Amino acid sequence: MKDTFYITTPIYYPSGKFHIGTAYTTVLADSLKKLNQLKNKDTYLLTGTDEHGQKIQQVAMKNGKEPKEYVDEMADMAKKLWKTMEIEYNDFIQTTEKRHEVIVQKVFERLLAQGDIYKGKYEGMYCVPCETYFTETQLVNGKCPDCGRDVIKMEEEAYFFNMKKYADRLLEYYETHPDFIKPEYHKTEMINNFIKPGLEDLCVTRTKFDWGIPVLSDPKHVVYVWLDALLNYITALGYLSEDDTLLKKYWPANVQIVGKDIARFHLIYWPIFLMALNLPLPKTILVHNWIVMKDGKMSKSKGNVIYPETLVERYGLDATRYFLLREMPVNQDGIFSPEAFIERYNFDLCNDLSNLVNRTVSMVNKYFDGKVPENQTHANPIDEQFEKEAQNQIIQFEEKIENFEIADSLKEIWQLIARTNKYIDETAPWQLAKEQETEKLASSMYHLIEYIRKIAILISPFMKDTAQNIFNQIGIKDKKLQMWDTLKTNIKLENIQVIPQGEPIFMRLKADEEIEYLKNIMKGN
Ligand code: ME8
Ligand code: MG
Repeated sequence: MKDTFYITTPIYYPSGKFHIGTAYTTVLADSLKKLNQLKNKDTYLLTGTDEHGQKIQQVAMKNGKEPKEYVDEMADMAKKLWKTMEIEYNDFIQTTEKRHEVIVQKVFERLLAQGDIYKGKYEGMYCVPCETYFTETQLVNGKCPDCGRDVIKMEEEAYFFNMKKYADRLLEYYETHPDFIKPEYHKTEMINNFIKPGLEDLCVTRTKFDWGIPVLSDPKHVVYVWLDALLNYITALGYLSEDDTLLKKYWPANVQIVGKDIARFHLIYWPIFLMALNLPLPKTILVHNWIVMKDGKMSKSKGNVIYPETLVERYGLDATRYFLLREMPVNQDGIFSPEAFIERYNFDLCNDLSNLVNRTVSMVNKYFDGKVPENQTHANPIDEQFEKEAQNQIIQFEEKIENFEIADSLKEIWQLIARTNKYIDETAPWQLAKEQETEKLASSMYHLIEYIRKIAILISPFMKDTAQNIFNQIGIKDKKLQMWDTLKTNIKLENIQVIPQGEPIFMRLKADEEIEYLKNIMKGN
């Protein structure tokens, strides 16, 4: 049986059009899926929409729709976007589906019966958009610490989850599972800001509105949207249902990806719920930062929003995916700016990658009538060193990606591209042709095609079409030669013919015009 690899994204609030920040998580998740598929793993990617709660109810009303009608339309919109972004998800769960709702009800009753949930009274400051209660001390200048908006005082009879009971177990789990939280600084933050000061029990029901899953034994209460939403990761796999084959096969998840704003829910509440249900915890929860603009968060009112469709339509999917993944550092927010986008396009994609492929294909045509030399000798003095350095770049890539450092892993691929470009200058094939150094020339062409093949494999999880385009141009048709396990050694390139007329994969953009174009789009023109 193949190894399995289960990846989840957060389920999105369908409260408006998705901007490039929302697309980031999903593109990342999809890339990890494609990467693991290339490694011959049985992968499963789950995404979906988080459809209950007061906020969604209010947005639906504003749009003059019944909540269910509204969320269904929004789920379709999300699916359409994921199609545009070529996200290969295996399942899309909506929390208003029966398969999810009945299991949430079952879970609630079970936690109640076992004493993890108890009935009490709640009084506190509540942020409606965030659907979160805060204590007075958590407020920042009297406002919501997460979104900065006004909070209201609320009181209600409610059920609570006994978080305190699990605090020590959670701390111990953190300490004994160093891969559980990535990057690690989030662990320190959780411990210092939430666990050490003392975990508060969590209010897990609401009575102020009814757009939620009713508690079976006390239906005037609906289940708190976060308890409801988090469970999607296992209800989608059939947890507590008649058929839990998928759960047996894929749980625990290999990696659950979340943005920094929802880290607390996933790093504290989610593992505690799983402990209470006696289920294993995910292997890694990967927390990423935000894509922001130079002037801060994206917002319509600021006039600085970019939607993924805009970029895909004008610059193509791969350039869009590349930019998002490349521009997000591990420990700070990634900044979108028209200048940075166009620069990455013109330099990384056009100058570095596209030109490497294009020059090489022309040379193989010119010097060998398009037939790639099979030769694996080290005829040039530099060959051995080049191979060593290039292979080392691949190892660097693997180390970064294993640790889910995505932007840095792409950087390693681009260093390999730079190293390969440098190899052209070092071997100076035009000189070798002039001097009729056929063996050296053959070795140079062989090494170029072999490493372009490897570069195409490395980029394929992130930029599928570009990789296929490269394989096509350099004549690598056999799927076996496009797999991950061919990266480790150099292979013999038998009967490989490059295409007669190479085509640039990316054409240089007129920077000024494009920056102007993007600036206008951001202003909403
Ligand atoms: O939080 N850059 O949904 P959501 C990067 N329903 N990521 C961003 C971003 C940005 N500018 N803006 C948002 C929810 N995100 C819950 C999840 S899971 C059981 C429930 C990320 O639609 C954000 O960090 O508000 C989060 O991970 C995801 O988009 C969904 O946000
Ligand atoms: Mg949010």
